[in-house]
Formats: sequence, C-alpha cells, structure tokens
Amino acid sequence: MGFYVTTPIYYVNAAPHLGHAYSTIAADVMARHHRQRGEATFFLTGTDEHGEPVADAAKAQGLEPRELADRNAQRFRDLMPVLGVSNDFFIRTSDAEHGAKVQEVLQRVHDNGFVHKGLYEGWYCPRCADFKAENEIAEGNRCPIHEIELVRESEENWFFALSQFQERLEQLYEERPDFVQPRERRNEALSFIKSGLNDVSLSRAKLTWGVTVPWDTDHVFYVWFDALLNYYTALTYARPGEDLVDEFWPATYHVIGKDILKFHTVFWPAILMAAGLPVPEHVFVHGFLLGADGRKMSKSLGNVLDPLEVVDRYGVEALRFYLLRDVTFGGDGATSMEAVGRRYTAELADELGNLASRTTAMLVRYRDGEVPATALDGALAADFTGLDATVAGHVDQAELSQALDAIWQRVRRLNRYVEESAPWTLAKDDSRADDLDRVLASLADGLRIVCVLLHPWLPETTVKVLDALGAPSTALQDARPGAVALGPAHKLEPLFPKERDSVPPAAAAS
Ligand code: MSP
Repeated sequence: MGFYVTTPIYYVNAAPHLGHAYSTIAADVMARHHRQRGEATFFLTGTDEHGEPVADAAKAQGLEPRELADRNAQRFRDLMPVLGVSNDFFIRTSDAEHGAKVQEVLQRVHDNGFVHKGLYEGWYCPRCADFKAENEIAEGNRCPIHEIELVRESEENWFFALSQFQERLEQLYEERPDFVQPRERRNEALSFIKSGLNDVSLSRAKLTWGVTVPWDTDHVFYVWFDALLNYYTALTYARPGEDLVDEFWPATYHVIGKDILKFHTVFWPAILMAAGLPVPEHVFVHGFLLGADGRKMSKSLGNVLDPLEVVDRYGVEALRFYLLRDVTFGGDGATSMEAVGRRYTAELADELGNLASRTTAMLVRYRDGEVPATALDGALAADFTGLDATVAGHVDQAELSQALDAIWQRVRRLNRYVEESAPWTLAKDDSRADDLDRVLASLADGLRIVCVLLHPWLPETTVKVLDALGAPSTALQDARPGAVALGPAHKLEPLFPKERDSVPPAAAAS
C-alpha cells in the first residue's frame, strides 16, 4: 500500500496566502519523507472551484465563474514550485473527469438508500458555503469564522442521511483512536458526533456552477460533497490510462486546518461509508497561523505575513523551516517577518550554515577534500544511532515540529563537537593526525546524516551540502552512522547569507 497525502483544495475566490502555503508545505514534508523511505508516494493538492462563493465573486467582477476559476487556479498552481512543493498532481474540481466521478459515487450513495428529499431552512454563511447550527452562530447572527451576517435560506433539496451514520462513526472513533489527530481534535469531532447528527443538505437548486445531480438535473451537488470527493476522484484520472485507487486508496493522511474539521472528520467518512468505500487512515488537523499580535491575520489589521515576501527576502527554504519550527504543527501560533529573521540568523545561518561551511572548509584545508576512511567517534555516533527511526516515528504521527527538533538537537551536538574537539589545534600537531582524521570523518558523517533527515524541510540546501560532502544519497536508510562512503568534499558558498537579514522589511517587500 502506498503513502497518500493530501492538502485541502483551495477556494479560487481569493488569492493564495500564508495559510494555504502552510498546509501545502506540511504535506510536502510528509510526501518527501516517505519518498526517502523508498515508498510509493502520491501527494495531491489543487483547487475547489464550484459553489456560491466563487459564483458570487465572479459575478462581482463581471466574469463567468469558469473565467475566474481559470485565472485563480493558475495562481495556486504557480505557487507550488515557488514553495518547493513536489505535488504529484494538481486537481481542479472543474475538471470534467472529477465531475463524472462525483456523479458516479454520489449516485451510488443515492442507490444505497442514503438520499432523500427535504426542505432546508436555516442560517447560511455564503463564504463558508455552509448552514450553521444554533451553537455555531456568533453574536449579532454572524458567522464565527468570517464575521459576516448570516442569511436565512430555505429551499427544497436533496439530503444525505448523515443521522444514520452516528453509530458507525462512533465505532470508527472507538476502534481507531488515531483516525483524527491530534487528540484534542479527535475529542472535538467525537463530541460533535455524540451530540447527535442531523441529515445534511446534499444539493442546491438555485445554483448552476457545480456538478449536476444525475438523478435530478435541476440541482447541483452542494460544493462540499463535490470538493471532499476530490481526494478519491484524483486517483482515477491523475495518470491517464491508469487507476491509482488500488495502490493509494484509502488516503494515509488528509492534512487540514481546524476550520474544516467537521467536514473531514464527520461528513467525509460518512459519505465514504454510504458509498461503500474505505475511510482514510488519518486526518491531521493543524492550527491557525496568526498575526504577530496573536490575532487572526487580516489585511485591515495589517498583521498579514505574505509568503512571497518571506521567499523574496529569506528564500523558500527559510519559509519552510520557519513554519514548521516556530509554530508547533498542530497548535496555533503568531507569525512575523521578525520571527522569520530570528530563526534564519540564529539557526539556519549560525547553526546549520556555519556547521556545513566549517566542516567542508576543514576537509579541504586539512585533507585536500578527502574524507578520511577511519572509525567514527563512538560517543558521537551513538547520538546519531536510531535517529532515523525517531524521525520516521514522528513523521508517521505527523509530528513534524518534533521530528525537526530531534534533528536540530544533533545539529547543535555537532557544533559542540567541533568546539570540544578543536580540529584547528589537532591540525598543528602531526602526532595527532589520526585524531584529526577521526574528528573530520565523524563530523562529515554527522553532517551528512542531519542533511539526509532534513531533506524534506530543506530540499535544496541539503542536496548542496550532501554534494559538497561527496555523498549525494538522500535515502532514509543511509541516515545511519557510517552507512555510505564520503568524499571528495569541496567548499560551500554560504548557504544562508547574512546580508539577507540586514535588509529592512519595507525594502524587502517592495
Ligand atoms: N475549499 C475548502 C476546503 C475543501 S477540502 C475538500 C477551503 N478552502 S480554503 O481556501 O479556505 O482553505 C482552507 C485551508 O487553508 C484551511 O483548512 C487551512 O488548511 C488553510 N488555512 C487558511 N487560513 C489559515 C491560517 N490562518 N492558518 C493556517 N492555515 C489556514 O476551506
């Protein structure tokens, strides 16, 4: 069974921002790590294009929904290489193949007896494209997420019999305690289920921008059902002539933000059960990136961190590192350009960058680039033994910040080792040539191991360092002391130049 990871698919009625970059980079780290393990891996991202919010935004701009979708989907697609993201496919829910598969699956849900007609009346947020339950309505009859006033909607449409899945969902949560991670999110989802499930509206009669309901062609499917199914439909047409469902379904991880918990942890498994399809292995729910002031990022508050500005100023690798290092993956956290700068200087430049420069420079200076083939320092090697398994264990639980921290402790360990063993002193004494060989070989091998393990976070930097060490393999099985031969080594240009950090933010942004 392959490893399959997905991001939420992003609405095309707004421009890409840091939150979108966050989910996508996190999923990318997971995908890259699993590829390092030699596992068949599929990584999906894309855009959610149907529904009222897009139709409304297009209308406001005097465009057809498809024109707006084409234009904005391209912006998301273009963002991926800028973020160093290695997705295997980019799905658009306006793809004809997606629509046809949605119809097929939901027709099955209908034929299995889980769809009925009903009258829907309730408070609706057009931005969420969702009706709000009584306990989800904020003060002043507003949407708690978008803070806009809710509208009273009523229409006859098709309903999905969610209420019939209450027991099966409770059983799923019981049997698979890690179905939803982290734990608090699992408890939140479970208590929502236990509070009692109502049937949910499955179609819209007023809207035309969507996938047509095959048994009632005056309706389109409610955008959320069309959207959730992307995770499944993509596998049926991502590779022309191939069906990847057998290899990759069910998904190993859906990575999502906490704003869309209910859809992924309640509606989604129920729909799959109703269609007779296996449910995903895990849904990982991350927190929210906030402004520097700890408040929700918003243009009017001026506390928005633009991912492209970070990339311009510090480079994409710094953005990837910062997001998973400064905010524990799973929790909420404040973000700012200053905080990126601090991580850049203190950790990327002064710790990793410095370690890589010193190590390669000393190999060149003292040994003409040859990496001595000698026994490694036992105490140092012991600190690296089992690290590959520790990191893999964390990534398997989507504990991406913990994995990064375990690796970073070894970056620091290596810098301490340089100070303690003082190779520059050993180099002055010919009788200590063997000691110097051992120190240089141990240092080079330790640096190699941290770079193999850091590869998913810092794909370009680590490849540069591994090349400079003459040990290009990024296979996870090589992240063990002495696993591969090194050399010849060559010097490195500074990986994280300090000048970047001296540019004032205003200049960097312009
Ligand atoms: N189209 C739906 C998802 C459908 S999935 C079948 C949607 N799209 S969205 O464009 O609004 O993106 C939502 C996702 O973006 C969140 O779930 C989260 O992953 C990410 N983020 C958006 N803002 C965020 C923050 N401020 N912080 C972290 N991530 C957030 O909802």
